[in-house]
Amino acid sequence: MQTHEIRRRFLEHFVKAGHTEVPSASLILADPNLLFVNAGMVQFVPYFLGQQTPPFDTATSVQKCVRTGDIENVGVTTRHNTFFQMAGNFSFGAYFKRGAMELAWSLLTNAVEDGGYGFDPEKLWVTVYLDDDEAEQIWRELGVPDERIQRRGMADNYWSMGIPGPCGPCSEIYFDRGPEYGVEGGPEADEDRYLEIWNLVFMQNERGAGRGKDDFEILGPLPKKNIDTGMGVERVAFLLQGVDNVYETDLLRPIIDKAQELTGRSYGVEPADDVRFRVIADHARTAAMLIGDGVNPGNDGRGYVLRRLLRRIVRSARLLGADKPVMGEFIKVVSELMAPSYPELATDFQRIETVAVGEEAAFLKTLSTGTKLFDETVDEVKAQGAKKISGTDAFTLHDTYGFPIDLTLEMAAEAGLQVDEEGFRSLMAEQRKRAKEDALSRKHAHADLTVYKEFVDRGATEFTGFDELATEATVLALIKDGVRVPVAEAGQDVEIILDRSPLYAESGGQIADRGSIVSSHGLKVAVNDVQKIAKKVWVHKSTVAAGQLTEGDTVLAQVDPAWRKGATQGHSGTHMVHAALRQVLGPNAVQAGSLNKPGYLRFDFNWQGALSDQQKADIEAVSNDAVADDFTVNTFVTDLPSAKKMGAMALFGENYGDEVRVVEIGGPFSMELCGGTHVQSSAQIGPITVLGESSVGSGIRRVEAFVGLDSYRYLAKERALLAGIASSLKVPSEEVPGRVEQLVERLKVAEKELERTKMAAVLSSAGTFVEQAQRVGKVLLVAAAAPAGVGAGDLRTLVQDIKGRFGSEPAVVVLLGNADGKVPFVAAVTKAAQDLGIKAGDLVSAFGPAISGRGGGKPEMAQGAGSDPAGIEAGLAALRARVAELAG
Ligand code: ALA
Repeated sequence: MQTHEIRRRFLEHFVKAGHTEVPSASLILADPNLLFVNAGMVQFVPYFLGQQTPPFDTATSVQKCVRTGDIENVGVTTRHNTFFQMAGNFSFGAYFKRGAMELAWSLLTNAVEDGGYGFDPEKLWVTVYLDDDEAEQIWRELGVPDERIQRRGMADNYWSMGIPGPCGPCSEIYFDRGPEYGVEGGPEADEDRYLEIWNLVFMQNERGAGRGKDDFEILGPLPKKNIDTGMGVERVAFLLQGVDNVYETDLLRPIIDKAQELTGRSYGVEPADDVRFRVIADHARTAAMLIGDGVNPGNDGRGYVLRRLLRRIVRSARLLGADKPVMGEFIKVVSELMAPSYPELATDFQRIETVAVGEEAAFLKTLSTGTKLFDETVDEVKAQGAKKISGTDAFTLHDTYGFPIDLTLEMAAEAGLQVDEEGFRSLMAEQRKRAKEDALSRKHAHADLTVYKEFVDRGATEFTGFDELATEATVLALIKDGVRVPVAEAGQDVEIILDRSPLYAESGGQIADRGSIVSSHGLKVAVNDVQKIAKKVWVHKSTVAAGQLTEGDTVLAQVDPAWRKGATQGHSGTHMVHAALRQVLGPNAVQAGSLNKPGYLRFDFNWQGALSDQQKADIEAVSNDAVADDFTVNTFVTDLPSAKKMGAMALFGENYGDEVRVVEIGGPFSMELCGGTHVQSSAQIGPITVLGESSVGSGIRRVEAFVGLDSYRYLAKERALLAGIASSLKVPSEEVPGRVEQLVERLKVAEKELERTKMAAVLSSAGTFVEQAQRVGKVLLVAAAAPAGVGAGDLRTLVQDIKGRFGSEPAVVVLLGNADGKVPFVAAVTKAAQDLGIKAGDLVSAFGPAISGRGGGKPEMAQGAGSDPAGIEAGLAALRARVAELAG
């Protein structure tokens, strides 16, 4: 049975039983505790906890899940997968244990012709929590014999998300794969042979913080008894498809086949190759799904996970022998495989492919720079007659050039060298330790939010700032250095929590409003920043300028109107630039971040390569046209599906059932989900000046712009600048470009001329060096300091010229320069002197140490540089002595 069919049957079974089908939530839900959504129940947590009333009392979904705790192990075994689909059914206070067990049992064991999965009930085992007699009794009634029911403890049969939240005992269903997969004795004995396929959680308690999965406090019962189940779609697929593991199923095997085709190697021959094939199959799928949900490659958090996945694909393909880019092909296969269940992989294909291929290109570049360094390292190691690449070099390759250690190992082996792996690993361990300490200290910096907890529980600060700029409010709390205080005096910095506030708290790229808090008793407080705690409590970071502020006071909170006007221009301007970008560049220019404040905005988006001048000009023109059209700005609140249907630019991480605010400017021109403050009509934004465009990471570009009066001021400054240049050049402004071009041309000619003159002077000294050559044994030796100011390039020409003048005589020419604190050197040996056994490369070791220099080369010519001019004389003396030895 195909995987898509397994999904379809699951949903159909539960819809028939009255459940509402809920689409999979995005892999990225706005929960800071969760890197990625990793279970079907995540989007329903507020319903379980009774914080929100669900719009249905039973639901079913197939949730995209990503778990990346163990990336290193992926592919090593056939069991680990970073992406999987969890099919689940949920009851919010409707049916409980019996309902969940009957529904699961019938879907698993009903005949295929009747819409079930057709599992042989004789091969199914179940587990229940230690004291769950009720569950055991129901299983018996459903026909499971006592010998296939096992009781297990907290670690196995009590489920929570691993963090505070809903929890409860669970009951799991296992399939016996047969004696060839392990010992008898049920799941207790062997979880490889007995494969868990479905977990039924009887969600009835709330857990507190604790030390992990099975060591936490139970805070008390949930308002209702709920059901949360999760069936592993991939596991059921490989059982029903009669294959050995998930990599052989219909949704992964074709990726391995594509990798065979692209690399020319075969799966199932070399165990090391097989790991790489599986890494490609697993990671390509996860990467495509993550990009589909808006993750971009980056250097921390989710972005870093994605980057690692993509790089491991490139590396694995390379190790399998691919020498060309492969990512596009893999992403295409994944998209074709997954689109029937996840249409966004087809509709968003171009964007997903662009991001993945861009990261591959960037990494390949990294690899090629790394390869250069690697080759140099190999040369050096060999020149020193050593056999091992040092741990430090391997670490530099890894850390600076993103060169994975196994690649270094493999390439070193090809070059006949070893790698000091132990040294490498100890440097890695040190780095990890530093990173850990760093993370720990950062955690501590944010950790103590307990002082705000009471207010988070109390509910959101009411934001009045869409409608008014001044609001009467009550002071709920004053917080100083993380501690509640009853009063704040003039001169003190304090955080203020109010019940309502017109001041915008930083979010969605818009920085916080500036403003003040005053009272009729002479209180004056300057608000410097406003931040949200837990997305709902406004914390006003303030300084008391005059008077006294006491908890419980009634005050007037007011926004600085000029600031707000600028802020609305900045934010609406951002929407205009975003819309213009998409009009000019197309729908692949997807937002990756933004920041706006009065007068200024910046906007980051996915794009490969720099924008052309024409594109920049077009973006600016389209934005300003839209400003001039003076579109009315409309804002309204609706639900997510309706907003998406209208074509509003969807954000990632929105939750099913969330209310969203839509900001629409000029109808279809710009429609975005946004909680920011905006102008009333587009002309109020004023002129938009695009400053420039730059790269902010692989595949992400940034445009910056001024808006409103800042835009005018910027242009006025530019005009004054041009006028100044025109007056210096004594031409009218419009002739400045032509004039500058002319000047640059003339400067180039003059520089060339100067270069020629200098060279001629240098070469004219060649004769003198030849005349001063010393006879040392059988050879003529020129060992001297070069004329002052001769750089490395000229030095080489000079030495070659001198050497040429000796013709067929045995001669050695070494000049040490002295330029900018460096000692560039060139050593040359004529053919006749080489026949006497003198090699230029060897001479470097004679004078090199005195000038702290390194370098190398061939028998006829060697060059390099030292860093100690004080050692020039000593170096020359050492050289003469060496030549005397060699030529004696
Ligand atoms: N939430 C349960 C799990 O993830 C079903 O196993």
